[in-house]
Amino acid sequence: MAALISLGIGSLVWVEDPDVAWIDGEVVEVNGQEVKVLTTSGKTVVVKSTNVYPKDAEAPPCGVDDMTRLAYLHEPGVLYNLRSRYDINEIYTYTGNILIAVNPFTRLPHLYDNHMMQQYKGAAFGELSPHPFAVADAAYRLMMNDGINQSILVSGESGAGKTESTKQLMRYLAYMGGRAAAEGRTVEQQVLESNPVLEAFGNAKTVRNNNSSRFGKFVEIQFDDKGRISGAAVRTYLLERSRVCQVSDPERNYHCFYMLCAAPQEV
Ligand SMILES: *[C@@H]1O[C@H](CO)[C@@H](O)[C@H](O)[C@H]1NC(C)=O
Ligand SMILES: *[C@@H]1O[C@H](CO)[C@@H](O)[C@H](O)[C@H]1NC(C)=O
Ligand SMILES: *[C@@H]1O[C@H](CO)[C@@H](O)[C@H](O)[C@H]1NC(C)=O
Repeated sequence: MAALISLGIGSLVWVEDPDVAWIDGEVVEVNGQEVKVLTTSGKTVVVKSTNVYPKDAEAPPCGVDDMTRLAYLHEPGVLYNLRSRYDINEIYTYTGNILIAVNPFTRLPHLYDNHMMQQYKGAAFGELSPHPFAVADAAYRLMMNDGINQSILVSGESGAGKTESTKQLMRYLAYMGGRAAAEGRTVEQQVLESNPVLEAFGNAKTVRNNNSSRFGKFVEIQFDDKGRISGAAVRTYLLERSRVCQVSDPERNYHCFYMLCAAPQEV
């Protein structure tokens, strides 16, 4: 990819860095297949020209909220954009109709209150800041307008915040589905609370996460023809069975085994 771009002295580029993953700098010398780059940290590095990526000098300092608008959609460009946004507390970014969430490791309650849900209700996708509510709203409206089942896929690394994102999606659907108040407990609560036992059988300690779900979850929310929630079901799949007989240190087996061992004698 990088090789297609002609590099000259003064070109702004990204080069790989052992400490900060990618660092920006300026080309100060070109020698055939190699370029010498003066990085913003003051180091001079010599790298193969295929390992440098062009940097967009005109990229806005706070990043763009839809990465399809980036001049260069390569790894350093994407990471830099996500980071610029994260630095100003914008944890959500679109790439087209994909929503990317960066775990803030802190509570941001103002992002998820009822007022927010009201704002996203019926707003065109992309009109407001990137948000899981926008994704849920788009799915809900497609379902209502076209009468077709919709799916939202939530994926990411362990500890990325999938459970939390799923919760916000369900809250929004429960808000639109309007059944919440009448039932006392919302559908989202019922779904989230439905499987405490399963968590013991399906969660284990991993290197990245002390309480990592080692299975996938398919949450089905059913709506009637008026768009009100009529039922919900949770199916689990892809349970990591190998973990039962093969555990690599320092990871652990499923919580349930430790719970059994820690259980008191029968009284
Ligand atoms: C949507 O999915 C449900 C459950 O799988 C199925 O019963 C229903 O027929 C589907 N509706 C449409 C319009 O495909
Ligand atoms: C796991 O829990 C221990 C204490 O119980 C803590 O010190 C450690 O940082 C936790 N690790 C992760 C990855 O959350
Ligand atoms: C693990 O996480 C689940 C939610 O994913 C939570 O219900 C449970 O209490 C947690 N268990 C521990 C031991 O932290």
